[in-house]
Amino acid sequence: MKTLWLDTIDSTNSEALRRLPELADGTVLAAREQTAGRGQRGNTWFTEPGKNLTFSIVLKNLPLLAPEAIRLNYLTSVAVASFLESHGVTAAIKWPNDIYVDGRKICGMLIENTLGPGGRLMASVIGIGINMNQKVFPQLANATSLALCTGKEYALEPALEEFLCGFEGLFSQLDSEELTASYSARLFRKGVPSRYHDLLTDCEYQGVIEGVEPDGRLHIRNLDGGDYYYRFKEVSYIL
Ligand code: BTN
Repeated sequence: MKTLWLDTIDSTNSEALRRLPELADGTVLAAREQTAGRGQRGNTWFTEPGKNLTFSIVLKNLPLLAPEAIRLNYLTSVAVASFLESHGVTAAIKWPNDIYVDGRKICGMLIENTLGPGGRLMASVIGIGINMNQKVFPQLANATSLALCTGKEYALEPALEEFLCGFEGLFSQLDSEELTASYSARLFRKGVPSRYHDLLTDCEYQGVIEGVEPDGRLHIRNLDGGDYYYRFKEVSYIL
């Protein structure tokens, strides 16, 4: 993988998408400052300049069809969780792809795919924001950083190389059961009775997250005994 550090850019995902034809498979665009970082659901991703990791990994010609793109979320989530674990912090994956520590969000990801003939993933831009050294989050009540968790400061460039090394190491597991199991094992609230809102039936119930399916569905066992499998936006956590 080859990392290009940019001092300032609107968004590393936007820049990677603009430059997609010229960027080789495995290129990583990392920014010291993003002026218009993008988050999930059209949200903005704000971070203090120079404090955190904000980067996008460009992957091309993936051995995946569009419905299998969820495997990239699994890979990235497990890579981030393992990276944090290697720094002594226990991370949980809030399905489908937020990373939490002690109930606070430490990392978000925005994966944008382009499709080629036959519904194959031609390219994927995996945008990742990991809060590393930021200590105050003025607009966010529920955010944390690695520095807040450990009391240490991190040099960003070596930290990114370390993350990318772990990400690459997991890549061979992309279509494996092992990756599904590693992701399931780290799920936020796994095995803990909690309340969920089934958005398909508009019902609330108490259930237990059992894990995810290889195709991305979240498996929740209702405490009354029923098994439910949800796609994205079909269930919400009652916090
Ligand atoms: C979210 O949780 O809402 C997703 C946040 C994704 C942020 C990262 S930072 C690097 C990359 N560039 C962007 O503009 N967004 C992603």
